[in-house]
Amino acid sequence: MSQAHYTTRGAVAVITLDNPPVNGLGYELRSGIVAGLDRAAADPAVKAIVLVGAGKAFSGGADIKEFNSPRALAEPTLHTVIRAAEQSPKPVVVAIHAVCMGGGLELALGCHYRVASPGAQMALPEVKLGLLPGAGGTQRLPRVVGVETAVNMIVSGTPVPSEKLAGTKLFDAIIEGDLLDGAVAFATKVADVRPLPLVRNIALVDPRAPGFLAVARNTVAAIAKDYPAPRKCVDAVEVAATRPFEEGLAWERDAFLALIQTPESRALRHAFFAERAASKIPDVPEDTPTRPVRSAAVIGAGTMGGGIAMNFANAGIPVTMLEVKQEALDKGLAVIRKNYEGSAKKGKITAAQVEERMALLRPTMDYAALGQADIVVEAVFEDMAVKEKVFRKLDEVMKPGAILATNTSTLDVDRIASFTRRPQDVIGTHFFSPANVMKLLEIVRGKQTGKDVLATVMGLSKKLKKTGVVSGVCDGFIGNRMLHGYLNQCLSLLAEGALPQQVDRALEKWGFVMGPFRVSDLAGNDIGWYIRKRHYAEHPDEPRQIIADKVCELGRFGQKTGSGWYRYEAGKRDALPDPVVEEIVLAGSKEMGIARRKIGNDEIVERCVYALVNEGARILEEGIAARASDIDMVYLTGYGFPVYRGGPMRSADEAGLFNVVRSMARYAALPHADREFWKPAPLLARLAAEGKSFT
Ligand SMILES: NC(=O)c1ccc[n+]([C@@H]2O[C@H](COP(=O)([O-])OP(=O)(O)OC[C@H]3O[C@@H](n4cnc5c(N)ncnc54)[C@H](O)[C@@H]3O)[C@@H](O)[C@H]2O)c1
Repeated sequence: MSQAHYTTRGAVAVITLDNPPVNGLGYELRSGIVAGLDRAAADPAVKAIVLVGAGKAFSGGADIKEFNSPRALAEPTLHTVIRAAEQSPKPVVVAIHAVCMGGGLELALGCHYRVASPGAQMALPEVKLGLLPGAGGTQRLPRVVGVETAVNMIVSGTPVPSEKLAGTKLFDAIIEGDLLDGAVAFATKVADVRPLPLVRNIALVDPRAPGFLAVARNTVAAIAKDYPAPRKCVDAVEVAATRPFEEGLAWERDAFLALIQTPESRALRHAFFAERAASKIPDVPEDTPTRPVRSAAVIGAGTMGGGIAMNFANAGIPVTMLEVKQEALDKGLAVIRKNYEGSAKKGKITAAQVEERMALLRPTMDYAALGQADIVVEAVFEDMAVKEKVFRKLDEVMKPGAILATNTSTLDVDRIASFTRRPQDVIGTHFFSPANVMKLLEIVRGKQTGKDVLATVMGLSKKLKKTGVVSGVCDGFIGNRMLHGYLNQCLSLLAEGALPQQVDRALEKWGFVMGPFRVSDLAGNDIGWYIRKRHYAEHPDEPRQIIADKVCELGRFGQKTGSGWYRYEAGKRDALPDPVVEEIVLAGSKEMGIARRKIGNDEIVERCVYALVNEGARILEEGIAARASDIDMVYLTGYGFPVYRGGPMRSADEAGLFNVVRSMARYAALPHADREFWKPAPLLARLAAEGKSFT
């Protein structure tokens, strides 16, 4: 059945786009629109045409189901559809509601007239996939909204509500009442007006354009330096302002084809699909029944408990917070209030919202107060004995069917579940710090976790505006398990010849938000030291991290103590290289009997990233992660991995797994290498040998 329905209203033909959910411009819909335009042209009783969207959008743009498939390029392409609208002998009026983005907006710009409901979200978001609008958007939009607005929209990809653009030539009318009635009335009014207006014929004369374009170019160079697309977007608008329309279209097409080949665009498109894939759990169908989550409870109001409680309050879910001491409860609440007030000061929320959210927090020291909560998240000390006490108590007091979640970062979720008589209700919800800010939520699926519990928590992650990624139970789950090898490489690099600032700089230059030593100084070096000491006690024969231990023995826990891997001046957060650390590093190398050598940035990056990749491959093999792109999502949303590299697994694919394995063999042959560590995981070795990739 055609996805473009053809009807008539008097002398007006109405073509209704109908490809749920957002009228993506796939092959069938494109064909249907062209057929409708032809039919209207051929019918002497029809004087004008209205294009309108069914359902919740005019059009969200390209049909993502067609991405990377030959159908995306099959005729009629979007270019052909737009040309058909432009060349229609009868006026084509587009009636826009709710969503008009990407190709949807480009189509609208190709039609003779545009009318819209207030509140319709107008955007050209292609830049978010490392592209620019490739169907005339960069050439037509500036002609109707001016250079400044067009650059802002195309470079940011951010939606602008229709009423904000009401004064521009983008719209011929804003229609307050029934959109289709209004559009048909408008079409009737203009049915005989000739010549038919075309955006391509509007002269773009804006004396302020050169100045504005220069500013835009500087801004883009500063904030999007690693991405080629935003620069091309500015160039495209400049072309629109300076060259004939057809030349501009050809320029735009070439730029689009060049951008689609860039690793940055490939990575961004990978991340786009990875986010969608992560919400699909292979053996948990989408129609799995879920449990309602109308109320929540959090145990522990410390660093994590407070942030987790804020997530619930932000989503309008009342949350009871339990602590053992009044003092801890008061402190936790005070921190939350301070955070909210900080957001209000920055204008992110209103003062009234601060109070609304605070009112959703119910402090208590009595377990009886939380028995009726639909979900409880435990965030007490990372100690199995404490967790055991808490979960035994929860098993006693929580109503049947309540979800019992733990925020543990290292402990065995199956063991925690065994403290209850309802292991099917127990799950890990591993938030990242600061929990009210970080997007990632690792959802840890225990051996007995119920599918409905998993589906409920996956749905909850969306409500809390998190990216939920499912992990099986293992030490460190996906993210921290991989981080272990990465951090070991960072420390080995110090022992072999690098300094913290060199390692940080190399990784930051490659695109990490922050290098590992700066991160460690921010989070507190004592956390790792505490874990290492426990490990040393359990494995007394294994080698120690002499350099990292020395830093901690001197009380250099990071920013909070004024020094760590760097030194900090009072009241400032700038990480300053410290000769004391250099001495510690040099002495450490000596103690380990290592002759220091000069280490290049490429080696630093490869050793750190390939350490992630090799462990990622094991995680995949063991089924801890369902797919390579889930691992990428964990690193993109929780670990500051450069988005334009698409995540560790994607970046390995981009380098070629054959090359990754060869590099690993080279690192295994270095004088002080841990040969076992650099042995490729069987999955990695196999894919490399077969010339395949992870993603
Ligand atoms: N800090 C992080 O970056 C981070 C990240 C992810 C996960 N986690 C995990 O989250 C959990 C909490 O970590 P945190 O950093 O918030 O610790 P924290 O020390 O800041 O807070 C723990 C809180 O739990 C309270 N508490 C202790 N025993 C309790 C009990 N029996 N009943 C009620 N409250 C109790 C304490 O008073 C304290 O306020 C740990 O399991 C940790 O591994 C921490």
